[in-house]
Amino acid sequence: MKKLILTLIAALGIASGAQAAEGGIAWDKAPVNTSDTASLQNGAKLFVNYCLNCHSAAFMRFNRLKDIGLTDQQIKDNLLFTTDKVGETMKSAIDPRQAKEWFGANPPDLTVIARSRAGHGGTGADYLYTFLRTFYRDDTKATGWNNLAFPSVGMPHALWQLQGDRRPVFEEHQSHGRVEHIFKGWEQVSAGSMTPLQYDQAVGDLVNYLQWMGEPAQNTRVRIGVWVLIFLGVFTVIAWRLNAAFWKDIK
Ligand code: HEC
Repeated sequence: MKKLILTLIAALGIASGAQAAEGGIAWDKAPVNTSDTASLQNGAKLFVNYCLNCHSAAFMRFNRLKDIGLTDQQIKDNLLFTTDKVGETMKSAIDPRQAKEWFGANPPDLTVIARSRAGHGGTGADYLYTFLRTFYRDDTKATGWNNLAFPSVGMPHALWQLQGDRRPVFEEHQSHGRVEHIFKGWEQVSAGSMTPLQYDQAVGDLVNYLQWMGEPAQNTRVRIGVWVLIFLGVFTVIAWRLNAAFWKDIK
């Protein structure tokens, strides 16, 4: 019995430890509005320019961008870097094996990333919005970068030229004999090509796009789910009638 209790306590401890490690800091609310086509178009442009070098979006075809108001010609002229066909899916420019070698981790496919990162801190979009705005220089890391929302991330800051260089400021707290570092805010070390407000808006557009891109896949799931339920309903009726028919004469 004592052993069981100890095991339970240990399990709970591990669970709460994992919770504390997740996220790192509180997530900011992402300004998502997937019916704002101007924002989605800007997000698509940022995505293709800054993310497709390393990441793919294997379930997304370039010509689907027509759904956010772009023409085939606009897609061809402005967004095709890794392929020359608008019917192609969004493949990354680098070889995944090479990426693993360079960064120590594989850049995940981003088609449904906004759906897969929801957690205690908010929606997946909130996480992405926070993640993409909390990179900072850290010379102890192989990439030279670190991140407050994803400590020790293997991804370098892809948008640093836009955001510039910032340093997180921590405050030390004594709690139960341990020193804790509480995040207080940012100090701008060198300016980027955007003001902080412009940068937040740009990342907002990018996250809006990531959210939109994950949406159709989810719609498909919902559609399949509905058909499964209809099938189960019909099947239940058939099974019920068959059952009645089989037992009709045995009484
Ligand atoms: C130079 C290559 C590179 C570029 C460019 C890049 N990434 Fe990454 N990214 C990575 C790698 C490598 C990882 C895996 C990191 C890890 O698991 O430690 C990653 C991970 C991620 C993750 C997953 C984080 C998580 O919680 O697991 C997201 C989201 C992401 N990248 C978004 C983006 C977006 C958006 C862009 C464009 C602005 C971008 N990345 C550009 C290399 C890159």
